[in-house]
Amino acid sequence: MPFNATITGLGAYVPERRLTNADLERMVDTSDEWIVTRTGIRERRIADPAEGTSHLAKRAAREAIAQAGIEPEELDLIIVATSTPDLTFPPTAALVQGGLGAKRAAAFDLNAVCSGFLQAYVTAAQFIQTGAYRHVLVIGAETLSRIVDYEDRSTCILFGDGAGAAVLSRTSEDVGLIDFVLHADGTRAGLVYCPSPTSPEATLKSIGGIAKPTIRQDGRAVFKFAVNGMSESVLTLLERNGLRSEDVRLLVPHQANLRIMTAVAERVGVPVERTANCIAEYGNTSAATIPLALHKWFHTEGLQKGDLVVFTAFASGFLWGAALLRWGM
Ligand code: ACO
Repeated sequence: MPFNATITGLGAYVPERRLTNADLERMVDTSDEWIVTRTGIRERRIADPAEGTSHLAKRAAREAIAQAGIEPEELDLIIVATSTPDLTFPPTAALVQGGLGAKRAAAFDLNAVCSGFLQAYVTAAQFIQTGAYRHVLVIGAETLSRIVDYEDRSTCILFGDGAGAAVLSRTSEDVGLIDFVLHADGTRAGLVYCPSPTSPEATLKSIGGIAKPTIRQDGRAVFKFAVNGMSESVLTLLERNGLRSEDVRLLVPHQANLRIMTAVAERVGVPVERTANCIAEYGNTSAATIPLALHKWFHTEGLQKGDLVVFTAFASGFLWGAALLRWGM
């Protein structure tokens, strides 16, 4: 590879409004005790009706760009990972590009649901490693509250809104993305899905779904596949790079359920103390969970240049995978 691609800036933004477990107790037949024990979630953030995914994304992006020490005009590409775009088109990335004044940047959205940031990060790194681009902004941003059924207690307790961003920059130092694995199994599409206004009946029928445009899932099946998929992806990366779990300074798993994250950490042999975690305060923010958890860890626990970090995610699709990187800041 002619160049390495390393994270030079991180940003995060969550809306101010909190939806607590006590609030949910008043909305559906649930309890704080059930939610905390089964998921680890205590509250989530909900976007103001006037705010869209692009607004959250821009706020997170500005922080990441400032930390990277560059101007928006220096960005070559913006990728927004989201499954809750402001509009069907243009893509949210175009709204972000225009709003930031990133005049030179190309822009596109990437929909890989909860593995969106992982896939966008890996994609961004390819553009840099080939030498095509110097600075790429990757954002995971969601307003999931718009597609949650707040009468369904098995899903409404899980999801929240938020955005996390990272600037990836070209470097000749031995830091940045080392290796990745990405997988898909579209035969399991019906296990967690959300229809759109363009969903044809034939597709809904093929996945055993209904047309209501809110998130539906088989929670137990997703749970099992998530643990297996993320653990196996991480173990594959460690094995083929000749690493042991002790070598990993930080594991950043997708934040879907604390029990899933703990099971993955145990299976791959990384202690929970070295596992990034923001699920209690934000819940599952889909494409935003990895950058939000990484941002929190970076500003509380810290990372040293040279530390090995692993991202791993699992999503509707099913889509799953992991990335191994050497920290460069
Ligand atoms: N409060 C109280 N009881 C509840 C609630 C609730 N909020 N939700 C479900 N229950 C009940 C169920 O009805 C069931 O009752 P029953 O035994 O009388 O039938 C009981 O609790 C147990 O239900 P399970 O579904 O077996 O509970 P589980 O421990 O599996 O937890 C959960 C459910 C939290 C959904 C879990 O399975 C999970 O987190 N799965 C992963 C989901 C996920 O990550 N989805 C994200 C993919 S998202 C994406 O790509 C957009």
